[in-house]
Amino acid sequence: MKVLSLHEAGAEAAPVPAATLAVPELTVILPTYNERANVPLIVAALRRALAGIAFEVVFVDDNSPDGTAAIAHEIAATDPRVRVIRRIGRRGLAGACIEGMLSSSAPFVAVMDADLQHDETLLPKMLAALKAGDLDLAVASRRAEGGAIGEGLSKVRAAGSNLANALAQRLLKVTLTDPMSGFFMLRRPIVDELAPKLSAQGFKILLDIVASGEGRLRIVEFPFVFRERREGESKLDTLVTFDYLGLLLSKYFGDLVSVRFLMFSLVGASGVLVHLLALRGSMIGLGLDFNMAQTLATFVAMTTNFALNNRLTYRDRRLSGLAMLRGLLTFYAVCSAGVLANVGVANMIYQSEPVWWLAGTAGAAMGAVWNYTASSLLTWRKP
Ligand code: GDD
Ligand code: MN
Repeated sequence: MKVLSLHEAGAEAAPVPAATLAVPELTVILPTYNERANVPLIVAALRRALAGIAFEVVFVDDNSPDGTAAIAHEIAATDPRVRVIRRIGRRGLAGACIEGMLSSSAPFVAVMDADLQHDETLLPKMLAALKAGDLDLAVASRRAEGGAIGEGLSKVRAAGSNLANALAQRLLKVTLTDPMSGFFMLRRPIVDELAPKLSAQGFKILLDIVASGEGRLRIVEFPFVFRERREGESKLDTLVTFDYLGLLLSKYFGDLVSVRFLMFSLVGASGVLVHLLALRGSMIGLGLDFNMAQTLATFVAMTTNFALNNRLTYRDRRLSGLAMLRGLLTFYAVCSAGVLANVGVANMIYQSEPVWWLAGTAGAAMGAVWNYTASSLLTWRKP
C-alpha cells in the first residue's frame, strides 16, 4: 500500500485565522452522549461568546450511537480549536469531565453541557474573575440570586434537586447554592491535585471537586437561568439520585469506602424492604404458606436488587438483552453463596461470642462484601 503525503491526499490544513492558532488560555470541556444536533450549535455559540479569547473546545463523547463524535471531528478538521476524545466501552458524565479536563494544558478549564442549556455568555466573566487572582473556582449557579431553574428541569427533578442540595449542605458543609451545577470553571492545577480523589462514577462532578477540596477552594458564584433543552433528550433520570446519595455518603465517610460499594449496599437495604413487602403480599394476596412465600420473596428481592444495581451501581456497565438474563442468573448464584457466607460467619462468631446482634451484623456485612465482590467479577465484569 502506498502511503500518500498529506499534500497528495489533499488533506493539507485549510488556512485558519492566526488568532485561532494561539495557545489556548481556556479549555471548554463538553461531555456528550447523543448530542449530534447540538454539536454545531454549541460550537457556533462558543465562537461567538469567546471571540477575542484564546480558547479550545474538547468534546468528550462516550461513543454515542447517533454519531456525535463524527460530527465533532468534521468541525475539528477545519478548526484547530476543536478537539474530540471518543471513549469506547465507558459511560459516565463525571468520568468524561475528568478525562477532558486532564487532557487540557491551558491554565483554565471550564465544563459545561453541550445541549445549550447553559448560558455560554458567562464564560468570559468567569474567566475574568479567575484571572483577577484570588479565586480557584467559578460556578454558574441556578440558585444564586438572579439565577433560575427556568423551564430547564421537570417538577420532580426540581424537587429532587432541592433535597439533594439540602443534604450536601448538611452532610458535607458545602455552602454552594447549586452544588449540582454542571457548569463551572477552574484553575487547571487544581484538577491535577484533586483528580486522584474524584469519583468517575455518577454525574455530581462539581460537588465531588468541592468536597474533595476540603474547604480550601476559593469559590465565586455567577447566577444564570437554566435554559430549556431544544434538541435531543436528557440522559439523567430521577434514579440518578441514588448515585448522588452514594457520593454524599462516601465523601461523608472520608472516602473509606467506594461509591460503588455504598450504592450496592443502599440497593441491598432497599431489597430488605422489598422482601418484607413481597413476603406479606404473597401470604395474604396469594395465600401461600410461609415457606413458599419466603422463597418467592427472596427471588423477588434478588430480582429487584439486580435490576437496581444494573441501572445504578453498574450503570456504566449496564447489561441488556441476553447478557442481562445471563447476568441475572449469575446474580442469583452469587447471592445464594452470599447466604452461606453470611450464615457461616455469623455462626462462627456466635460460637465464640454469643451476642446475637454482633454475630448477625457481622454475617450481613460478610454477605454484602461477598455479593459485591463476586458480582463485580461474575455479573458486571469489566468490559
Ligand atoms: N460523555 C458523556 N457520558 N456525556 C454525558 C453522559 C455520559 O454518560 N451523560 C450525559 N452526558 C452529557 C450530555 O450529552 C450533556 O451534554 C451533558 O452531559 C448534560 O447531560 P443532560 O442529560 O443534558 O443533563 P440534564 O440537563 O438532565 O442535567 C443538568 O442538570 C444537572 C443537575 O440537575 C446537567 O447540567 C447536569 O450536569 C447537572 O448535574
Ligand atoms: Mn441538559
